[in-house]
Amino acid sequence: MARGTRSDSDLFTVSFGMAVDNGADSVSPRGVSAESLKKYAEILAKGDAWLREGCAAGRDGVGWLALPFRDIGDIEEAAGWLRGFDAMVQAGIGGSALGNLMLHGALLPPYWNELPEAKRGGPRFYLADNVDPRDNRTVWNLIEPEKTAFIVISKSGSTAETMANFLFFWDRLKVELGPKKAAEHVLVITDEEKGVLRPFADEIGCRRLVLPSDVGGRFSVLSSVGLLSACALGLDGRKLLAGAAEMDEKLAQRASLFENPAWFLSALSVAHYRHGRNMTVMMPYEDALERFCEWFAQLWGESLGKNGVGSTPVRALGAIDQHSQIQLYTEGPDDKLFTVITVSAPEEDIVIPETEEKALVPLGYLFGQSMNSLRRYEALSTAAAVAKGGKPVVTIEIPRLDERRLGALIQLYEHVTALTGYVLDVNPFDQPGVEQGKNFTYGLMGRPDYSAQALEVTELAEKLSLREMTL
Ligand code: PA5
Repeated sequence: MARGTRSDSDLFTVSFGMAVDNGADSVSPRGVSAESLKKYAEILAKGDAWLREGCAAGRDGVGWLALPFRDIGDIEEAAGWLRGFDAMVQAGIGGSALGNLMLHGALLPPYWNELPEAKRGGPRFYLADNVDPRDNRTVWNLIEPEKTAFIVISKSGSTAETMANFLFFWDRLKVELGPKKAAEHVLVITDEEKGVLRPFADEIGCRRLVLPSDVGGRFSVLSSVGLLSACALGLDGRKLLAGAAEMDEKLAQRASLFENPAWFLSALSVAHYRHGRNMTVMMPYEDALERFCEWFAQLWGESLGKNGVGSTPVRALGAIDQHSQIQLYTEGPDDKLFTVITVSAPEEDIVIPETEEKALVPLGYLFGQSMNSLRRYEALSTAAAVAKGGKPVVTIEIPRLDERRLGALIQLYEHVTALTGYVLDVNPFDQPGVEQGKNFTYGLMGRPDYSAQALEVTELAEKLSLREMTL
């Protein structure tokens, strides 16, 4: 994997120089050499074939691989309808929310809701994901119901948090507009078969988009789940998909560990994990990518954390975490694999102004310098400091953040995650631990047929307070 040449049309560059043990080099991380990664080539090739065959056969969970190639005319039509509203409120959680935040955060101007309408060109966006009465009431008070659309997204069509939040807004909306008019403000995204939302949409006659049955929640960002709000807010869904398709094609063509970044990242993750580096830190130096880390954390954590295995995803943000976590990262335990992401030509820059006050003369080294170069040097310094501490670092340099490149990054990380599940021998597409928590909640809330879960969780909860201190 020699240093490559770069051009403006590149998607991005992934560098592994300090992610493997370089032998003679005194600072490179110990224990995982490029040579030792070769043993994963065969299983990765098998895993890739398993994914691609599974996708072609419509196997549960693998449909994300085909999303870049699906038609999105129905999503764009619904997005056009949404653009006629002043605001949209989305009820959804986990995979039915984090992808939206990631796309908006990366590609829309910051402080979107506060921009004047003429600068937005799309509705304000509010998300009701957590169960928080104060948040919901605040959102309700911030919107004008007759100018607001309500989107409810749930793959299973039954998640308690999403349903409770939606029921609140639906009730208010009916009181405000009457049931018939209220239904004209609602759009449902759910599975064709499961849950209550599909029959609900039929009953009230509201708009509905399908969430493909072979796509799981955390892999659904490039389906109606993520694309509807993105397109409504003015992003180009087709370019996102084109970037994802471009990545998929590159991955499909590169059947070698040292040329295929999905294979290499997967092998690297597994090898470091098996070497005791059981955390993976994702640290962009770009505020716009902060939500990318949250999306990745769910993807990685829920897909791989099962049967007693799985590395823990850690979200970090440069430069903020230089002043919070870097001490631990550089000199703490050698239990993490780091990924530092930078954007080489961000859309905006500020030249740090010069000033004449004597007290500020020591700041002269900053005068006239670009804020982006400060940020770039900080990223480089962090990567170097972590590497100097003997910890493995991958760097990703993205020329510009746009739909094409974000789509490609999403597709790459979904591929890495799914492959890593295969290598670790876990099913990357189920989430029994999440279902367990949901079932306990249903039991406690008195949902019919969940009394056994109610009993079990009550017994466990009693044990939680066997020893306590009240202050
Ligand atoms: O990835 C997953 O399957 C989960 O994290 C879900 O996205 C989350 O639990 C929400 O589920 P649903 O979309 O069914 O309401």
